[in-house]
Amino acid sequence: MEVKIGLLGCGTVGSGVIELVQKRQDMISRLTGLQPKITHVLVRDPQKPRQVSFIDEQLTTNADDILEDSEIRMVIETIGGIEPARSYILRALQAGKHVITANKDLIAEHGTEILETAEHAGVDVYYEAAVGGAIPLIRPLKESLTANEITDLKGIINGTTNYILSKMTETGADFADVLKEAQELGYAESNPASDVDGLDAGRKLAILASIAFHAKVTLDDVEVTGIRTITAADVAYAHELGAVIKLVAEGTDRDGNLTLQVRPTLVVKDHPLAHVSDAFNALYVRGDAAGDLMFFGRGAGSLPTASAIVGDMIEVLRNLRMDTALRVRQLLLPHKRVRRGQG
Ligand code: NDP
Ligand code: HSE
Repeated sequence: MEVKIGLLGCGTVGSGVIELVQKRQDMISRLTGLQPKITHVLVRDPQKPRQVSFIDEQLTTNADDILEDSEIRMVIETIGGIEPARSYILRALQAGKHVITANKDLIAEHGTEILETAEHAGVDVYYEAAVGGAIPLIRPLKESLTANEITDLKGIINGTTNYILSKMTETGADFADVLKEAQELGYAESNPASDVDGLDAGRKLAILASIAFHAKVTLDDVEVTGIRTITAADVAYAHELGAVIKLVAEGTDRDGNLTLQVRPTLVVKDHPLAHVSDAFNALYVRGDAAGDLMFFGRGAGSLPTASAIVGDMIEVLRNLRMDTALRVRQLLLPHKRVRRGQG
């Protein structure tokens, strides 16, 4: 059975999603018994050259082509920012469509509204790609580690700033030149101030802390300092001290008291975080039962991010398949109870 999908946005991430769905079509069908088909792709400028070749996907500038098409059962949002992404997602959920998003700004600021709307509508929302690109973080924290009391989160969760600081360390280059490279590689947000001022990492930490510490955390709860003022001289001085500068995000829960910070930090060279280079991300998690865990991988980029989104998509397909199987079973199950006669 075919499952029609609408894709909002076809930039760095959206084009990666199309490429990966096209490439894994047969495998996904084998795994889920369903055939995903991206029928419509929403963009602003249909004339713009794209990083992907379209097969059946049709470009549109009208969101209603997706949101009002009752045959589309799943919407993948890769537009970014708050509006119109928020309104589109809410409309999709209210129309009974499952939603997958890579949008950390939106989840960090309006996560509760989105999750509650999904719950009322009885549909799924997944956002694995919103934190850590390809690295599975959301689902492990929500599912595999739920038996733990998590006390510490610590790591590098912004690829752009890590790329910039790594290149400044390796080459002695200036901040502005390396930022341009990170933008060209597709790591930076459309407004890179969000990356360099630490807000992107702050929002990601808010999302992770909300899940790990069972709290409602927003960006306002995170103390944030960016890397804009870090100079080549600071980087050289850190080197003399046997350290590197990294933008470290840290969250702790001490008996319900949360401390949340994102700030440039001197990391000694033999610490594992010192070796996280380019746009890679890493996150340490400490749980009372599991002990210390470290997650590491590509935190940004087209296919790494698409990997997380398409993983979520496969999960939605599995749920759809299960719903259908359950419904079929319910139809087949006898629905009348045999009552014994009273005599
Ligand atoms: P891009 O800027 O590369 O792509 C955005 C896409 O959305 C473009 O295709 C654009 O259309 C479309 N778009 C933007 N605004 C509108 C609008 N109002 N109406 C219709 N279409 C619109 O962004 P990215 O792909 O880099 O990021 C997308 C999301 O993924 C963001 O939430 C980002 O935070 C998140 N993310 C990004 C990662 C990365 O490595 N880049 C990694 C993890 C998450 P057009 O092309 O016509 O301009
Ligand atoms: N701009 C983000 C980063 C993209 O550099 O980490 C991945 O979330």
